[in-house]
Amino acid sequence: MDALTIISQEHSNMWRLATTLDQVASDLQAISPSETAFFEAALDYITQFVDRMHHPKEDDFLFRLLRLRSLEAAEVLDALEADHRQGPENLAQLRAKLAAAAQGQLPVAALAVAVKHYTDGLKGHIKTEEKHVLPLARKALLPQDWAEINQAFRTHSDPVFGDQAKAEFRELFHRIASLAPDSVGLGASSVGSLQTAAAPTQPVLLKVEGLESCYGRIKALKGITLEVRKGETVALVGANGAGKTTFLRAVSGVQSISAGSIHFDGEDISKLRSDKRMRRGICQSPEGRQVFGPLSIEDNLRLGAYTQPKHQVAGDMEKIFTMFPILKEKRALPAGTLSGGQQQMLAIGRALMGRPSLLLLDEPSMGLAPLLVEEVFNVIKTLKSQGMTILLVEQNAFAALAIADRGYVLETGTVTLTGTGEDLIHNEEVRAAYLGM
Ligand SMILES: Nc1ncnc2c1ncn2[C@@H]1O[C@H](COP(=O)(O)OP(=O)(O)OP(=O)(O)O)[C@@H](O)[C@H]1O
Ligand SMILES: [Mg+2]
Repeated sequence: MDALTIISQEHSNMWRLATTLDQVASDLQAISPSETAFFEAALDYITQFVDRMHHPKEDDFLFRLLRLRSLEAAEVLDALEADHRQGPENLAQLRAKLAAAAQGQLPVAALAVAVKHYTDGLKGHIKTEEKHVLPLARKALLPQDWAEINQAFRTHSDPVFGDQAKAEFRELFHRIASLAPDSVGLGASSVGSLQTAAAPTQPVLLKVEGLESCYGRIKALKGITLEVRKGETVALVGANGAGKTTFLRAVSGVQSISAGSIHFDGEDISKLRSDKRMRRGICQSPEGRQVFGPLSIEDNLRLGAYTQPKHQVAGDMEKIFTMFPILKEKRALPAGTLSGGQQQMLAIGRALMGRPSLLLLDEPSMGLAPLLVEEVFNVIKTLKSQGMTILLVEQNAFAALAIADRGYVLETGTVTLTGTGEDLIHNEEVRAAYLGM
């Protein structure tokens, strides 16, 4: 992924967080330990991520190079860098107010005002970057500048957090999502359905009703109702921690459910083991690819076909190789030697070896360079044109909605909006929450 995509994704995460903070603060009647925990987690995220990672990376790479290439950038960059320097101080003041409110020494209304003031500042800052700085950077920076900036943002390695920084921030964001009050969620808040154009005519293949699933006391899915018709590509989009992966795992049967039902091709499969669901054609390419590193590419593909009759495996593998020639070239090598993009191809190929009638894809473009992202989406388009039914989970919401027939927006375990891919792309709230401002 290039730095601009990463920066914009980070911006939309922060934007959602700011909106959520605001909403929780303005709904506040009294402050209880759970709200204090939520605010603290959110402020931790901003302290660790925004002030220690996002801002310094911008200062040290994007802003520094942009100053060199564009004279008109100086003024706006001065202001933004001043904001960056001021960030920790503002946050410390907000923490002090939170502590005072928690001890009853500050009225909650005053805390709400302080939160609003802080988040307004953050949002203004993000807007300036999105509206002025990023467009200017696109115009003025040279290829070698981008190489340097991309490298810095892509690795996100950091002396304090190390290589795992990104994974840790993701965890932290999940914690915030799970602590946010039910009524708020993270992002768009309306529950609704956009007008669909023509009534779909294909039979329903997957029908999920009132699905709930928990991790211990955390309810990750809070009653999801969704359907996928034969031949449709349906996109499920939503922020980190919304429950997208949990949902796919519940459908493929590796995640237990606590309420609701799943029907597949007319049959209730809610209680069916995952291998039996796979035999019926529900095949998943999991988040983070999860290929078996020490095994060869061929063996990884064979694993995907373990529910299939032996005689068809060789022929199916050839089809996968036609689709992904690079896998053929490296067929005898351990999967661990493949690049991230190639491993993604392998994960999709492995799922296809199960001859899916419903293909579940969990973030196939995650962590890939832009060209590879395009390639992965091309593969999905090809499968779609061949009539495959696909349920696609993506954080790259724009690209996913652009190829999907329909989409569902998931917010902390609840579907908040459904509609055609195109309607969702044009929807104001979706644009604000997921596609940048
Ligand atoms: N193994 C687990 N144990 C406890 N809680 C979990 C576990 N996996 C997920 N959760 C929680 O369940 C919620 C939904 O997580 P899930 O991974 O399904 O979200 P997601 O939409 O796939 O997020 P992402 O975009 O980061 O992949 C989050 O609050 C998360 O912290
Ligand atoms: Mg996920």
